Amino acid sequence: MSTQLRPTDVKRLNRHWRRHTHSRISLIVESVTQPFNLGSILRTAATFGVDTVWLTGNAVTPDHHQVNKTALGTQSKVRWEKTAVTADAVAAARADGYRVVAVELARGALPLHRAPLAGDVCLAVGAEDHGCSPALLAAADAVTYIPQTGRVGSLNVAVATAIAIAEARRREWEALPDEDGITG
Ligand SMILES: C[S@@+](CC[C@H](N)C(=O)[O-])C[C@H]1O[C@@H](n2cnc3c(N)ncnc32)[C@H](O)[C@@H]1O
Repeated sequence: MSTQLRPTDVKRLNRHWRRHTHSRISLIVESVTQPFNLGSILRTAATFGVDTVWLTGNAVTPDHHQVNKTALGTQSKVRWEKTAVTADAVAAARADGYRVVAVELARGALPLHRAPLAGDVCLAVGAEDHGCSPALLAAADAVTYIPQTGRVGSLNVAVATAIAIAEARRREWEALPDEDGITG
């Protein structure tokens, strides 16, 4: 019978996957204005060991008092920087060695399972209402979209971010020998 892991088991399991994870992931978050969305993005970022979050445009910042409602304290585990314009965020990510991949339902975008996510990748997501700016899409090294099969226009931005980060990690982990990391 399967039972839930205890917190100490989860810590051990997280250490296992940290040891098997070498590529870096960062984020560009452009003009995400709802604190609960940013909080959720930050919790996912902290969970998957995201290196840096560049906030740009009129994005809310992690010090907003409502971010904690969904971040639940995890915002303190994520390094973040605010840049004045998106071009600065893209330049900072590139200077730090990242390939910048915009996550957007956009013309010419690759479906997520075909996106170039190997190595160090900076995923860029856009605003709740109008999505990634044309400047971000033009500056990115690649654009990817998450295929949808329901009759819905788009995902919530925090959910889209989580799916893209999980896929980037999965790409590295799928080459590992078959083991679940759970002992005992
Ligand atoms: C709610 S969507 C933007 C709204 C959308 N442009 C519209 O016209 O309704 C917010 C962000 O979530 C991400 N997103 C949502 N669904 C997505 C999908 N299926 N594929 C890729 N990105 C998605 C993108 O980064 C997008 O900029």
